[in-house]
Amino acid sequence: MAKPGPAAKRPPRSAHQRIDARKPSPQQRAPAVPIEHLLEALPDAVVLVDAGGQVAYANGLLETLSGYSRGELFGQLIEFLVPERFRELHTKHRFGYVANPRARPMGVNLDIYLRRKDGTEFPADIALSPLQTDSGMVVVAALRDATERKEAQTRLHRLAVLEDRERIAKELHDGVIQALFAVGMNLQATEAKAGDPEAVRARLSGAVDSIDVAIRDLRNYIFGLRPGILADRQLDQALHLLVEEFQEKSGVVTAVQIDERVAAQFGNTATQLVQVTREALSNVARHAQATTCRVSLLQHDESAVLEIDDDGRGFKPGRGGSRGQGLRNMRERIEAIGGTFSVESSPAEGTTVRIRLPL
Ligand SMILES: Nc1ncnc2c1ncn2[C@@H]1O[C@H](COP(=O)(O)OP(=O)(O)OP(=O)(O)O)[C@@H](O)[C@H]1O
Ligand SMILES: [Mg+2]
Repeated sequence: MAKPGPAAKRPPRSAHQRIDARKPSPQQRAPAVPIEHLLEALPDAVVLVDAGGQVAYANGLLETLSGYSRGELFGQLIEFLVPERFRELHTKHRFGYVANPRARPMGVNLDIYLRRKDGTEFPADIALSPLQTDSGMVVVAALRDATERKEAQTRLHRLAVLEDRERIAKELHDGVIQALFAVGMNLQATEAKAGDPEAVRARLSGAVDSIDVAIRDLRNYIFGLRPGILADRQLDQALHLLVEEFQEKSGVVTAVQIDERVAAQFGNTATQLVQVTREALSNVARHAQATTCRVSLLQHDESAVLEIDDDGRGFKPGRGGSRGQGLRNMRERIEAIGGTFSVESSPAEGTTVRIRLPL
């Protein structure tokens, strides 16, 4: 290991100049501060490495960060601070850098680890800059412990994964499960018609169509696309189609009233309206025992109001105990796009699901 020469104990000569306020120039208006003091005051650990890779200077923060004293660091190859398994690669990179020196900002080398005196390692952000001095080129490296940044990054990543899972669960619940439920209802109705071969054939073909829809929706969710029913339709057409399918499968007579100009104002958020309507209709089919239903999308004041209204047996909203996710999903979808969601219902009085979105 090379012994530190006396020159190595302080910054190279050109870095040793004073910044002098008495001779201001446009670039140089800072107060007179010896350069060593400046290097010590920097908020980052700083190390100067000569063209041969030896440490020529280290500030106090590098001592704190690495656990080594300056005396131990001076004259060492910089790879001294690199975990053994990365040393060969680092040496190669260093040769490459000396051959083609250029300023490199923090965070570009995202996966560099450094080794402390006690053998522990930490991820580091390192910025490099070449500096010509009277005694040749030195590389100025500013180092920062990146542990917290990396942990924050990992936390953010985890959060994004969780959000994504939540989104997928929601899409599967509101889209695919409801579609499969419709198939189930269809097949149940088929049992009752078993004596009539034509009716059975029609029911079975309806069930096959529903399965096709579920598969197409599933594919679309997987690729983060909009639900299939919207893929090639406008919102008003998609709502009409939903109602048509619902009516056919549930036998609940349903009136539709959609203001096309209002429907045309929804872009990407149309997906949310379709899914909410699908779930609300699925609830009518499963829970309401309704005779009639009404789906409307109209303008009231400055808002678009979507209502799914049934004359069924109603329930007491807000009473915990339901293990279902449908109502919660609906509320979350609508609130996420800046709207309000409400359910009005009381036993034997029917149910109204109302969504209000500012236009
Ligand atoms: N239109 C309705 N008529 C009568 N009861 C309803 C209606 N909509 C919802 N409910 C009641 O509210 C409960 C909660 O509905 P929610 O959609 O959250 O769950 P779910 O339909 O039971 O299950 P999931 O939607 O997760 O398959 C239902 O179980 C039902 O008792
Ligand atoms: Mg439900």
